Amino acid sequence: MKITISEPKLPNSGALVIGVLKGGTLLSTGKQLDKASKGALSKAIKGSRFTGGRGQWLDVIAPAGIGADRVLMAGIGEAKTIKRETMENVAGSALQRLAGSGVKTISIVCDPVKGAKVDAALGAASLAYGARLASYRFDKYRTKLKATDKPSVTAVNVLAKGSAAARKEFKSLDAIASGVFMTRDLVSEPANVLYPESMAKECRTLAKLGVKVEVLNEARMAKLGMGALLGVGQGSRRESQLVVMRWQGAGARTKPVAFVGKGVTFDTGGISLKPGPGMEMMKWDMGGAGAVVGLMKALAGRKAKANVIGVVGLVENMPDGNAQRPGDIVTSMSGQTIEILNTDAEGRLVLADALWYTQDRFKPQFMVNLATLTGAIIISLGHEHAGLFSNDDKLCRQLSEAGEEVDEKVWRLPLTDAYDKKINCAIADMKNIGGRDAGSITAAQFLQRYVNKVPWAHLDIAGTAWADKGKPTVPKGGTGWGVRMLDRLVANHYEGGK
Ligand code: BES
Ligand code: MN
Ligand code: ZN
Repeated sequence: MKITISEPKLPNSGALVIGVLKGGTLLSTGKQLDKASKGALSKAIKGSRFTGGRGQWLDVIAPAGIGADRVLMAGIGEAKTIKRETMENVAGSALQRLAGSGVKTISIVCDPVKGAKVDAALGAASLAYGARLASYRFDKYRTKLKATDKPSVTAVNVLAKGSAAARKEFKSLDAIASGVFMTRDLVSEPANVLYPESMAKECRTLAKLGVKVEVLNEARMAKLGMGALLGVGQGSRRESQLVVMRWQGAGARTKPVAFVGKGVTFDTGGISLKPGPGMEMMKWDMGGAGAVVGLMKALAGRKAKANVIGVVGLVENMPDGNAQRPGDIVTSMSGQTIEILNTDAEGRLVLADALWYTQDRFKPQFMVNLATLTGAIIISLGHEHAGLFSNDDKLCRQLSEAGEEVDEKVWRLPLTDAYDKKINCAIADMKNIGGRDAGSITAAQFLQRYVNKVPWAHLDIAGTAWADKGKPTVPKGGTGWGVRMLDRLVANHYEGGK
């Protein structure tokens, strides 16, 4: 889909989208169109329940005196409540409403709004960004799609004064969207196509953006003593991989920030086999790793002025003659031993070695890991918030704020000695499950045993990596959750520093 920003010139065909404030107040272009159509727009508003409230829409087809084939009025609420997210959602909803309508081009008018919380250039860029995010589709395997099943919209143009400045803002946002799309693609790919080695190959494509990519195979990991990660992959015909991605956007003396992802390309549960129904969902058990890869793409794509490390542990968890058994004891890279009481609690084993390796080798300012770690987090928080666990209040604040800003929200849960005790073990240093109670917390306590003094946060994204229901800028399916909020975290606090 072609997405552009240009100087205001009303189109003679296609759909035209204009914003309407709470109370039904038209903006400057709206007023002009209302006059040209002899009051058709205000008449339509009067004859409906549309009040300009945020999220409301009113569609006027073929109004006389107006060049466009239809005018969509988007409720944008009160001026002082208008933020970037409002703009993104207006454009995203417009595209979703019109995608299969037969309309080919959408023109979105960006009129100035006094008192809005977003400046003109960023406002217009946010409209373009919202359209871009909403345009995502994963239909590469649908070989029999008819023309009428495909979206009719091929172009979205944002009309804004000062379009050059808006285009400049959009360049960075467009790079972030590319990162989000990469994550969505990786999460959507089935596990016969996306397995540790093929995912590592996808990581290598970031090299063309200037990311240094290193892939450690099983022999290298064995030498490093990564018995926890390797144990998970030992029942698979596919070789486990650990991928290290490095983006050097700041001076050599700036300490890096690090992101670590769980990349279980398929989680059958192993010998502790999962039940059949719904098991296909476990193709997206690499969502944490997918987010890290997409984030690296976003940061490199917009040339972020930060030094960033991305590490993903890639394994497939299969039952097999060579698979790990319940009762096995493995030794992690940290030297700590683990009794495996449930082979389905595998993500923490992968992260134990990936986290240890990352802090040991890179001495980062902080580490944030992402993982579709526990079903229990879906019981706690549903699909609205990701679980946040951390040893550092400042990092938590920064993550919560970034999450609010981009509508990828987190909710903090506790870490304490009392929970930590639940994974103590009689015959090894720890066991890999803590019982049914507080399952997400005991999983996080397990991870914390592999983190030394570095500020660290764990995001349990089992409820947010995939959506059965779409939102204006997030179509259903792989969401790309985490890319936007972690990009914002870096932009807010870790760029242009010392
Ligand atoms: N990948 C799953 C968690 C998961 C479940 C993600 C549902 C997304 C949707 C994880 O590896 C797992 O199996 N966790 C177990 C842990 C248990 C064995 C302690 C779980 O949540 O049941
Ligand atoms: Mn599992
Ligand atoms: Zn898993």
